[in-house]
Amino acid sequence: MMTTNSEFKAWRVEEQNGEYVGAEKSLSTADLPDGDVLIRVSHSSLNYKDALSASGNKGVTRSFPHTPGIDAAGEVVDSATGNPSNGSPVIVTGYDLGMNTDGGFGEYIRVPAAWCVPMPEGWNARTAMIYGTAGLTAGLCVQKLLTMGAKPEQGKVAVSGASGAVGTVAVELLAKLGFDVVAISGKADHADDLKALGAKKVVGRETLAEEKKPLVKPAFANAVDTVGGSPLAELLKQIKPGGSVSCCGLVAGPGLQTTVLPFILRGVNLLGVDSVEIPLPEKEAVWKKFAGEWACPKTEASARDIGRSELDGALKAFLKGESAGKIVLDHSK
Ligand SMILES: NC(=O)c1ccc[n+]([C@@H]2O[C@H](COP(=O)([O-])OP(=O)(O)OC[C@H]3O[C@@H](n4cnc5c(N)ncnc54)[C@H](OP(=O)(O)O)[C@@H]3O)[C@@H](O)[C@H]2O)c1
Repeated sequence: MMTTNSEFKAWRVEEQNGEYVGAEKSLSTADLPDGDVLIRVSHSSLNYKDALSASGNKGVTRSFPHTPGIDAAGEVVDSATGNPSNGSPVIVTGYDLGMNTDGGFGEYIRVPAAWCVPMPEGWNARTAMIYGTAGLTAGLCVQKLLTMGAKPEQGKVAVSGASGAVGTVAVELLAKLGFDVVAISGKADHADDLKALGAKKVVGRETLAEEKKPLVKPAFANAVDTVGGSPLAELLKQIKPGGSVSCCGLVAGPGLQTTVLPFILRGVNLLGVDSVEIPLPEKEAVWKKFAGEWACPKTEASARDIGRSELDGALKAFLKGESAGKIVLDHSK
C-alpha cells in the first residue's frame, strides 16, 4: 500500500491565449482525481480521440489543464478495494479515462476499480497498448460482423481508413480469419504495408467517392468502416444483399446522409460499435481473444514506440489524416 504521494511526469495540455499546448510537467499523485485504484502506467497508446483532446476539443475534454491518454497499462500500486490487488498488471481503456479524467499520458492514473481489466495471461503492458482502444474497437467491429453471420465465402470485406490505428488491426484480423480483405486507403505509399498485413487488394478513397445513384453494383459482402460521413454512405450502397457494415468512426464527418434503399432493398445491416462505455466483461473477452487466437503478430511487430517528447507531432498527424499503424507511448523513453 502506497501511503506517501509520489511525484511523476505527465504530458499536460494547457490553454494559452486560446491555443492548446502540450508539454511535459511534474505532478504529484495528490493531484490525481479520487478513485479506487492508483496505477503506475508504463505504456499508453495513441488514438484519434487523444488528438482531439490535445487540440482542445470540448466534446472530448471540457476543462484544461488536462492529461490526455484514453488508454493505459501498468501495475496497481494502491488499491482501495483489493480487486484488482496491489502489484497486479492491468489494462484501462475508455470510460472517462483521458477525457475528463487524467489519462495514460501521465506516469500515474487513479481510476475506479470497475475500469480495470486484468492483463491477459502471457501479455505485458506494451503488447496490450499496441492494440489499445483502436485494436479493441477493431476486434469489436469484427466480432459484430461474425455475430451477424459474416463468412469468408460470402465475398470481399472492405476496411475503410485502412492505414489508421483501427483499420490496420481490422485488416490483419479479418485476413487471419480467412476473409478476402480490400483495404480502402488514401495513402498510396502504405499499400505494401497493408498487403503485408493481409489485404488482398488496396484501393484508393475514390472507391467511396460521392455518387448520385442511391444504389450501385454490390462490391463487398461486408465491411468495417472507420471513417463515417459520406464514404460510409457510399459504402452502404456497395454492400451485397444481407451484408453488414460495422461503423465505429467519424474522421470523414459525423453526418450520414443516406437513403433507406440499402436497408429495405438489400437487407443491409448497419452495426454501431462502441468500445468505450460497454461493460467491462465485453472488453475483457476481446482482450483475451487478442492474447490468444486473434493475435495479430504483424501489427505487433510493426508498432512504433515513442516517448512523451514525441507526442505533439504524433498527435497532430492524426488530425491531418496522416497517422499510420499503431503507436505506443513508452513512459521509460
Ligand atoms: N466507436 C468507438 O468506440 C471508437 C473507438 C476507437 C476509435 N473510434 C473512431 O474511429 C476512427 C478511427 O480511429 P483511429 O484511431 O484508427 O484514427 P486514425 O489512426 O487517424 O485512422 C483513421 C484513418 O482514416 C482515414 N482518413 C482520415 N481522414 C479521412 C477523411 N477525411 N476521409 C476519409 N478517410 C480519412 C485515414 O486512413 P487512410 O489514409 O488509409 O484512408 C486515417 O489513417 C476515429 O473517428 C475514432 O474516433 C471510435
